[in-house]
Amino acid sequence: MGKHVEVLLPQSVHNKHVTYRYEYYKHPEPRVMGHGRDLYAQSKDGNTFPVEVSLSHYQINDQTFVIAFVIDITVRKKQETLVLQQKAELEKITSEIKKMNIELEQTVGDRTKMLREALKELEKSKEELNVAFENEKELSELKSGFVTMASHEFRTPLSTILSSAYLIEKYNETNLDPKVDKHVKRIKNAVGGMKNILEDFLSLGKLEEGLVHAKPERFTSVDFNGFIQSVISELEAMLKPGQTILYENVNEGNVWIDHYLLKNILINMVSNAIKFSLDDGKIRVITFVENNQLVLNIQDEGIGISDEDQQHLFERFFRAKNAANIQGTGLGLHIVVKYLELLDGRIKMNSTLNEGTTFTIYFPQPKDL
Ligand SMILES: Nc1ncnc2c1ncn2[C@@H]1O[C@H](COP(=O)(O)OP(=O)(O)O)[C@@H](O)[C@H]1O
Ligand SMILES: [Mg+2]
Repeated sequence: MGKHVEVLLPQSVHNKHVTYRYEYYKHPEPRVMGHGRDLYAQSKDGNTFPVEVSLSHYQINDQTFVIAFVIDITVRKKQETLVLQQKAELEKITSEIKKMNIELEQTVGDRTKMLREALKELEKSKEELNVAFENEKELSELKSGFVTMASHEFRTPLSTILSSAYLIEKYNETNLDPKVDKHVKRIKNAVGGMKNILEDFLSLGKLEEGLVHAKPERFTSVDFNGFIQSVISELEAMLKPGQTILYENVNEGNVWIDHYLLKNILINMVSNAIKFSLDDGKIRVITFVENNQLVLNIQDEGIGISDEDQQHLFERFFRAKNAANIQGTGLGLHIVVKYLELLDGRIKMNSTLNEGTTFTIYFPQPKDL
């Protein structure tokens, strides 16, 4: 078209390009132009756009012609930029992940260390606890061994004291000195109390050594009735002035129970009812069978148990606040619960302070008796 090739280039590179052009004519060779540089061309409307240019030459009649292949690479460039951008973003994300990984490893490391240390501490305190536990066990065995031994050994001298007291009482029958009588009664009372304590210790000792087993038997209603009646008669010796025990058996069928354990339970429960009631208090013992259970109900009109104390009643050595001045070990109910464990039984309590207490005990019964 008779125009210089520079019309295709942006104004800013016109001069430089003229020089390049003359240089090329001097040493023409086919090559790609603008190696390592971005080349731009200019369109008719003045906009620039990226291009790729290859150069070649030929001769006609000793005249050198140069041919340039110009390719518009706008789309390719855009793609390239996009790829570059995405690559950069990817690199950024990768480096962030790496950083996070390092942090995570650090945290995991720290935590592991902490955990190891905690574990070590735990091991240590476990060992300490084991040692303490062993010591405690040894001590407790020693203690209960001592208590059992002492209880045994105390029985004989206590019997001697008691029989001597009876003899003194007997010898005094002739001269009737009221003071001697008074003191003999005191001795008998004190020895009686001590015997009860020893009985509790011995019962618990036997239970804890696993020497007590339930051996239930079948009772006819009449035999059962007679048995309870005889235990109650024994307990009547303990009654305070004006106190009475009413026994009611609302039961006609057979009963399945270990009479030795039942007797001990009954003695514990009724002696509590006597002990924790004032003079003239009525005590009711009711037995019946219902829903395959033998039910034993002991009611008194005694001092009752506060709600707070009721929570701990079956614990070893526990005694309610209002029982402080009444003799006892706080072992009786605990022993009862142990017996009930052997018999698969349950115990329930209902008590109001200063009004009275009702204990209900359930013994499961076989289906066909
Ligand atoms: N029938 C009752 N009325 C009032 N309090 C009772 C009765 N039975 C038991 N308790 C309370 O429960 C405590 C624990 O009873 P128990 O184990 O038999 O011990 P102990 O008879 O040696 O005191 C008693 O000290 C008493 O405070
Ligand atoms: Mg008791």
